[in-house]
Amino acid sequence: MAQQVTKAVIPAAGLGTRFLPATKAMPKEMLPVVDKPAIQYVVEEAVDAGLHDVLMVTGRNKNALENHFDRATELEASLAKKGDTDRLEKVNYSTDLADMHYVRQGDPKGLGHAVLRARMHVGDQPFAVLLGDDIIDARDPLLSRMLEVQAQRNATVVALLEVDPDSIHLYGAAAVESTDEEDVVRITGLVEKPDRESAPSNLAIIGRYVLRPEVFDVLERTEPGKGGEIQLTDALQTLAADEELAGGVYGVVFRGRRYDTGDRLDYIKAIVQLAVDRADLGPDLRPWLREFASGLEDTPAAHEIVEEMTATPSDSLAAGEN
Ligand code: UTP
Repeated sequence: MAQQVTKAVIPAAGLGTRFLPATKAMPKEMLPVVDKPAIQYVVEEAVDAGLHDVLMVTGRNKNALENHFDRATELEASLAKKGDTDRLEKVNYSTDLADMHYVRQGDPKGLGHAVLRARMHVGDQPFAVLLGDDIIDARDPLLSRMLEVQAQRNATVVALLEVDPDSIHLYGAAAVESTDEEDVVRITGLVEKPDRESAPSNLAIIGRYVLRPEVFDVLERTEPGKGGEIQLTDALQTLAADEELAGGVYGVVFRGRRYDTGDRLDYIKAIVQLAVDRADLGPDLRPWLREFASGLEDTPAAHEIVEEMTATPSDSLAAGEN
């Protein structure tokens, strides 16, 4: 019987170098996605899945994260004085959202190292890990399904997403076998950021995990891997290779909407996709977007003109032109 998962760990101590200079003095997890910081979506997701005990792994420059989930007494008093109850509710909502705990990582030595910092708080129970810059659209629940699979199989469970083979080098890639459930696969091997040719599949690990406590011992023994960092993927590979250790590793194949807000292009897409469906913004944003997009078709971007000018005849043939 698997123990019930009650705790969520959110690593948010990375340097966010892809987003510099915005992240020079501010954590990337605090970048607003419409009108909430990315991290609030992630905490809301944990709470929606029933995980109210949240441990955030933070680091230098990350005070804003703690402040966001704490009381803001002056602001509250000022809103209350003005009778602005709508905004006051929004402010209080993030304060009361979850039972928040914090631990610092010191040096950001990799995701595996960040997860290891949760050991004291988590203890001897299975737990969920949600990456602080990865948003799963609340309309496509994933974590609750992963918790269900963990409870059934008492194993390690990761989230997998089918990606374009040209992008697999950005992720951990999984070698898999099918199971009796359509959305669940057994993972036989994992490779961190492989090139397209050596990738075992185009199933990429995305930022949701349900781990058994045995992962901590494995992480303690895991040597720095890709980029000199202690990689969670390497520890998961050890668990996948030896089913005796902790019941093996399974993947839930996710087919919903997911936004990597640590990536600039994905961040912009996230804002647009979430805003068009909002009752307060969508009705004005949609017609504006249509008009903007039709203007784009008429005026090719400068880099497209350059590409067209430099395209070879074989490029044109490959693109189906004649
Ligand atoms: P990323 O690799 O996306 O984060 O880690 P990063 O290193 O901050 O990003 P770039 O590549 O420099 O732009 C995924 C998640 O793991 C956390 C990050 O904060 C992010 O939420 N993380 C990463 C840690 O908590 N500690 C680390 O040492 C590394």
